[in-house]
Amino acid sequence: MKIAVLPGDGIGPEIVAQAVKVLNALNLGISMTEAPIGGAGYEASGDPLPDATLKLAKESDAVLLGAVGDWKYDKLERHLRPERGLLRIRKELNLFANLRPALLYPELASASTLKPEVVSGLDIMIVRELTGDIYFGQPRGISKLENGEREGVNTMRYNESEIRRIGRVAFDIAMKRNKKVCSVDKANVLEATELWRQVMIELSADYPEVELSHMYVDNAAMQLIRAPKQFDVMVTGNIFGDILSDEASMLTGSIGMLPSASLDENNKGMYEPSHGSAPDIAGKDIANPLATILSVAMMLRYTFNDEANAQRVENAVKKALAQGYRTADIWTEGSTKVGCRAMGDAVVAAL
Ligand code: IPM
Ligand code: MG
Repeated sequence: MKIAVLPGDGIGPEIVAQAVKVLNALNLGISMTEAPIGGAGYEASGDPLPDATLKLAKESDAVLLGAVGDWKYDKLERHLRPERGLLRIRKELNLFANLRPALLYPELASASTLKPEVVSGLDIMIVRELTGDIYFGQPRGISKLENGEREGVNTMRYNESEIRRIGRVAFDIAMKRNKKVCSVDKANVLEATELWRQVMIELSADYPEVELSHMYVDNAAMQLIRAPKQFDVMVTGNIFGDILSDEASMLTGSIGMLPSASLDENNKGMYEPSHGSAPDIAGKDIANPLATILSVAMMLRYTFNDEANAQRVENAVKKALAQGYRTADIWTEGSTKVGCRAMGDAVVAAL
């Protein structure tokens, strides 16, 4: 088993170091090789996705990624910015299925800004399409109109096969859960998502046991806050999934708790926390490493088919929380505030 480890920028290196520590503690004989991406890639070789990094990622069974981005790169040309590196590696590896589980650990019920009774028992799987939509659609760009004013253009587009393959992922996951899929679109306004809805309905014929519902994205944003426990699996496009997964993360107390898996057709995957690089707290040893550690659990489950060790890691996280350890983002009165490294140590000790 070969893993490419791409720490990236900001808090990326410190959270990834904790996840690597957990992987080493499992003693599975996994070989890990590090390479730069994002701003770190730009610094190393003038490219947010250096050729050597992409090659390593392609040759590995899985990729463990920290986060990319820093304000200091915002002035670079768009193709050199850290985010492009992330979007390109997703596209190059064909990682079209992004799984973002929003799960509330009972210990953190009081860390959420929502009332405990609204969120307790929450367990949602957001399935976000990751290689299409307005993120990649052509035409795009900023150009000058004839009258001299500038115009920005992006294009939302989805073809049938792209919709069908992400739909299948969502239905298959629902079959292993509570057999409910809520497809989120804006079919009342956007044709691209009108097609999305039609294809989801066609696909549901193959899954008679799964209850399919549809929701407009504005309503879904509201329902996630009003009554989040109505959801089991949510499936949606790239841009809506980006926004709704950040929203869902707050139901769990902190975005620092939300892992993710991005998979191709063969379950090769890239695993990363759903949060960003948080340059404002980088290097201060206060970031929450749990989303990254939980991403390792997803790696064991989805790419290495090792459910037992996936659960071991998840149980170790639960134990560290039950023991009262909290990073600053999830800290509440009466618990023990720890830094990033100490949280990693607590999980390793619990293992
Ligand atoms: C995410 C992030 C990325 C995205 C950014 C960093 C390009 O917000 O993974 O959700 O928009 O997909
Ligand atoms: Mg996002």
